[in-house]
Amino acid sequence: MTTSRISGFYNMTLDERRAKLADAPASSTPPELAAWTSGGLSAEAADHMIENVIGLHSLPLGIALNFMVNGRDVLVPMAIEEPSVVAGASFMAKLVRAGGGFHATTTDPLMIGQMQVINVTNLDEAKLKLYEHKAELLAEADSIDPILKKFGGGARDLEVRIFDNSPIGGFLVVHLIYDVRDAMGANAVNTACERLAPRIEAITGGKVHLRILSNLADRRIARARCTIPVKSLAFESVGQVSNLPNGQIGNLSYSGEEVRDGIIAAYAFAAVDPYRAATHNKGIMNGVDSVVIATGNDWRAIEAGAHAYAARTGRYASLSTWGKDADGNLVGTLEMPMAVGIVGGATKVHPAAQAAVKLMGVKTANELAEIIVSVGLAQNMAALRALATEGIQRGHMSLHARQVAIAAGATGELVEKVASQMVAEKVVRIDRAEEILKGIK
Ligand code: MEV
Repeated sequence: MTTSRISGFYNMTLDERRAKLADAPASSTPPELAAWTSGGLSAEAADHMIENVIGLHSLPLGIALNFMVNGRDVLVPMAIEEPSVVAGASFMAKLVRAGGGFHATTTDPLMIGQMQVINVTNLDEAKLKLYEHKAELLAEADSIDPILKKFGGGARDLEVRIFDNSPIGGFLVVHLIYDVRDAMGANAVNTACERLAPRIEAITGGKVHLRILSNLADRRIARARCTIPVKSLAFESVGQVSNLPNGQIGNLSYSGEEVRDGIIAAYAFAAVDPYRAATHNKGIMNGVDSVVIATGNDWRAIEAGAHAYAARTGRYASLSTWGKDADGNLVGTLEMPMAVGIVGGATKVHPAAQAAVKLMGVKTANELAEIIVSVGLAQNMAALRALATEGIQRGHMSLHARQVAIAAGATGELVEKVASQMVAEKVVRIDRAEEILKGIK
């Protein structure tokens, strides 16, 4: 298999889907599939990860299909409890394929470490003294992690900022810019900051108070864009119109232009209103976090970075943009901090996280970041398309209806039949499912 398109995946059994993955593009091998089957982590391994362990907490792990990122097909593992997310991402990735897939880039993996220097007599003088010692400080920071250095990482820059009007008066903040290569980087950066502190105190005459990385990782940005041919946006929403003159259920057609303009108008809302932008960005994070979690990365760090970045102008706004190109095609872009790693931390010790990295065939943290930002963009588009047309509840309703149909005793093909009828009638209740089932039988 050389493609991320697997027809009928949705309707396969769990075992059939696993069998399909066994010959996936990045050749996930059977032992790694086993990691997902069992949830991956043993309680014993978990006991070494955090404190007071009593067990494990699981999430569903689904595979998003159809993704092509920078010309490469990739099957994307997503860990999430919310219905419609995996299906939404997969469907949008299919539309984006028609426009050449996702084009994604990343900056160098630069993290920022912060050192707060208090009790400084003259902030301006101390700032300049620090710049005079920059080369020496960088050399010291650079020598701290020989492994990172071997792989091309290390200290890159030092910046000094003055805050002269805080609740405790003035203080300095020193930023250490550190290339963390394929690590998330928190450990490397925090260690470097702690190590530099005594020298910074000697140079400034102040006291280094906090020494910690910043989650506003605005030097470590991932960007994705996509173009969707306007024609492929057209669709028919089945069983949607219950207010036809004769009270019948009918279909509603949306032209490509209508869908495109609807998505652009939805984006405009998020661009100007923080109340909407928060929800719009939450939709992006549905996609982003699912892959971040599946790969054992720190989703709180990604969330913190995303929202701080969304507010970087002083007003919280959309992380993505939607518009059209000269040919009238829909164009989406997403740009956000992406501090993810593929070495160290849970990524290394969690067998399911390792399987996720292997399935995607990523060799660097930047490649992983490029996939994640593409999934975020796809997810955003899925939400906006639904909101701008048939409404978000329809997708949710279908999945909910399947669960209700199963609860009413439907099996096999009957699940879909009963569910579709309930959705068409807009009555998703167990008593109705039982009635429909009786009628069919
Ligand atoms: C729900 O998890 C996410 C959405 O609210 C995102 C959005 O409104 O854009 C549907």
